Amino acid sequence: AIFGSERPNSKGLNMNIAAESRPFFAELDSFKETQWQAAPLVDGSPILCGDEMPVMSPQKLDSQVGKVHFADAATIEKALVSANAAFDGWNRTDVEVRAQAIEKLADLMETHRAELIALCTREAGKTLQDGIDEVREAVDFCRYYAVRARKMQGEPTTLPGPTGELNELFVIGRGTFLCVSPWNFPLAIFLGQVVAALVTGNTVIAKPAEQTSLVAYRATQLAHEAGVPTSVLQLLPGTGALVGGTLTADDRIAGVCFTGSTGTAKVINRSLAGRDGAIVPLIAETGGQNAMIVDSTSLPEQVVTDVVQSAFASAGQRCSALRVLYIQDEIADKVITLLKGAMDELHVGNPALHKTDLGPVIDKTAQENLNAHIQRISKEGKLIHQAALSDECGNGNFVQPTAIEIQHIDQLEKEHFGPILHVIRFKAANLEQVVNEINSTGFGLTLGIHSRNEGHAEKIADKVNVGNAYINRNQIGAVVGVQPFGGQGLSGTGPKAGGPHYLTRFVTEKTRTNNV
Ligand code: NAD
Ligand code: ALA
Repeated sequence: AIFGSERPNSKGLNMNIAAESRPFFAELDSFKETQWQAAPLVDGSPILCGDEMPVMSPQKLDSQVGKVHFADAATIEKALVSANAAFDGWNRTDVEVRAQAIEKLADLMETHRAELIALCTREAGKTLQDGIDEVREAVDFCRYYAVRARKMQGEPTTLPGPTGELNELFVIGRGTFLCVSPWNFPLAIFLGQVVAALVTGNTVIAKPAEQTSLVAYRATQLAHEAGVPTSVLQLLPGTGALVGGTLTADDRIAGVCFTGSTGTAKVINRSLAGRDGAIVPLIAETGGQNAMIVDSTSLPEQVVTDVVQSAFASAGQRCSALRVLYIQDEIADKVITLLKGAMDELHVGNPALHKTDLGPVIDKTAQENLNAHIQRISKEGKLIHQAALSDECGNGNFVQPTAIEIQHIDQLEKEHFGPILHVIRFKAANLEQVVNEINSTGFGLTLGIHSRNEGHAEKIADKVNVGNAYINRNQIGAVVGVQPFGGQGLSGTGPKAGGPHYLTRFVTEKTRTNNV
């Protein structure tokens, strides 16, 4: 079994088996009008500070999903004092107890799967398939990190020494971690960070993205229900500037786990560097300028299937998504012709429908920025194709899946986080230059390679500085424990999420030498 025997990955949902899908759809339907709420959860109690703000769906801007209160300065302080006070007790709690609470959370998420998927669809505009995958990934993170923590912290390591001396190495939590997450994986990344910090003995202040507080609130409630003490996990929905800015500058925060844009990671890094107190770890998983290299030996039909998945799934709102497709001249026209046809097959519309391939982008600002980029870069390069929006799109934040031919990767001044694919033709003799160009961006998240010349593909994978290289398949959807995920350079610090070393950055070590 590819997932090994220590921990099965979560089950999917086969929509083609009526006995499985019918009850699921019926349950999902029961959440189509639900109004959720979110507020700071301090010691388990909602604090209704500041204004109550409506949360509107990115798919239908007049459709309300719930309401949210953002944390103010007094609430941030309260959460921090309580999380700090809870640390010692939680850190001394047996890892087995912590791991069992995290595993219980995984079970509860499976029980509440339909509600969590409905939330992801309505609050974040995720398609049904993305919602299903989101819950699975969150569940997998819980079970995987529970197993890893038991291995790492179950017993101290006994080390050799002179007769009569007992040397032991203990692995323990660091203190209160600040976990800051993005909106594009509002459950999986939010919880992946949180459970990694918790299971290793840290207390946590979780700061979800402004756009997805409702999912985070529900997930936090489930964590408390699973047995994570309310003082140990505090939730602070709110702005990056206030919640993030205040806490990263505060010496009482013992580490930061961040996923989001490279720009924000740098702001956090500077804030941590400016503190007077201890030097603390920053785990940052950030953006990419991800490329795929397609040589003339590859199969055009397979290439196009994988390109469409990589560039347009999740409306291109994955850090791993393909942004720049390099195609060798000899097969470029064939691939581009097939690509146009495949793009016309995409259904862009209501994310709650089974048939939908792309939902909306997250908000108006994102929509406007992406459309402005399409306008600009189409003038510099050449528009290849745009897929149509369906009638369901209405006033939602939809962006047409777009392919544009450009000359050089430098024309992209930053990561464009949406369904826009840039295509560059190259000659076989210039392959080394292509590799250098990709490396010169400084980003290093994912790389796709299509080639039937295996040794050649592996050589390219070796030369491009990325965290995740995929050969002859799509380049998204890393699976926990199977493709540990994370980048290099401007794309992140590591260690990789869903990998065997992830938990090491959340802990500190203590050597005890006893001359018995
Ligand atoms: P963002 O950087 O705008 O925001 C991420 C989080 O940081 C939010 O919770 C935000 O409120 C918070 N934040 C903002 N300013 C802050 C500050 N000064 N201090 C502390 N926190 C602050 O990113 P986003 O738009 O939410 O997410 C999209 C980005 O995330 C893309 O760049 C994408 O590539 C990246 N991403 C990376 C990975 C990965 O694993 N490498 C995964 C998902 C998303
Ligand atoms: N881990 C996510 C992926 O691989 C971002 O697509």
